[in-house]
Amino acid sequence: MNLMNKFTAILSKYYGLEQVEVLRQKGGWAALAYKVTEPESRRSYFLKVYEKDRSSTPKWTARIDQYVPITSWLEQTTGLHGKIPVPMMTTHGHYRCEDDYGIYLLYDYIDGETIGDKPLTQEQICQLAAIVAELHSCGKELPVQSENIVENFELPFALSLKNILMTKGAGLPGDVYDLLGPYVEALNRMIFNADELSAVIKQSQLPLALCHTDIHPWNVMQPQSRRQLMLIDWEGLKLAPVEADLMFVVDQSYFNEFMQIYRQFHPDFTLNGRTLTFYQIRRKLEDVWEFIEQLLFDRQSPSERTSTLQSLEKELLEIK
Ligand SMILES: Nc1ncnc2c1ncn2[C@@H]1O[C@H](COP(=O)(O)OP(=O)(O)O)[C@@H](O)[C@H]1O
Ligand SMILES: [Mg+2]
Repeated sequence: MNLMNKFTAILSKYYGLEQVEVLRQKGGWAALAYKVTEPESRRSYFLKVYEKDRSSTPKWTARIDQYVPITSWLEQTTGLHGKIPVPMMTTHGHYRCEDDYGIYLLYDYIDGETIGDKPLTQEQICQLAAIVAELHSCGKELPVQSENIVENFELPFALSLKNILMTKGAGLPGDVYDLLGPYVEALNRMIFNADELSAVIKQSQLPLALCHTDIHPWNVMQPQSRRQLMLIDWEGLKLAPVEADLMFVVDQSYFNEFMQIYRQFHPDFTLNGRTLTFYQIRRKLEDVWEFIEQLLFDRQSPSERTSTLQSLEKELLEIK
């Protein structure tokens, strides 16, 4: 069966959608993206497809059944109403479905723009800060199960990355070796530092709040029809120290404006430098590892490989 037939079969079986038009869209990092339109109602949907043969898929899909009910609760009962997308339920009563090819989530389609490279307007900065602050107000008494999304401060990829670095890249494909070589020492040091920080932080019983953990401008959308920003892509939802989110804004030009709004919700808040550093280092290592993993284990076309090599190089260049 070709891909489109697989998708229409899924849409019919699990969502009761018939005769739909399915169009490929520019996706994100983790998954393929399709716009699905039902001709009769003219209603559109966003289909997110995690391909089962991608090595990152288990990581991104393992907690769907844990995090989606929390986003649903957030959407229905908190100030985040209308500001976050929640996947639709299947006719079987689940938030996802799958076949031999992929794991699927279906959303209402957001007609609008992804912020991406565009600068945020004043209004958008305020709205983003309010969304994050509202999210961070949720922590202690969640009425939904949340033990599975508690931050553990681990670096699950560290062992694999260390093994590669230990051999100084011997056995790596030549193009990966050439890129990685000059950074072996720096990466080893970062793993060491992250491990040390992790051990200290684990002992310090920091207050935890719900965190998105991936607040970059490709996960922020401005719907056309209303002046309300939406924060999308909730795969990373965790109960964690809020630095897990604030690390995405500390280096932005709008940081001070953001914090001004944020402090209206959390007047006594102070940023914990050690926790922030931990998150910054871990994220950098995680991104580097993600690209290495693609280059070593995923089936890629030559142009996909070139693009991943460029992304890896960009990540490495940012390392001092
Ligand atoms: N509900 C939606 N409606 C329309 N476009 C969407 C929707 N959700 C995501 N997108 C677009 O698809 C892109 C990738 O989606 P995202 O959920 O961030 O996937 P990934 O996990 O692969 O990053 C987003 O940057 C955005 O442009
Ligand atoms: Mg995304």
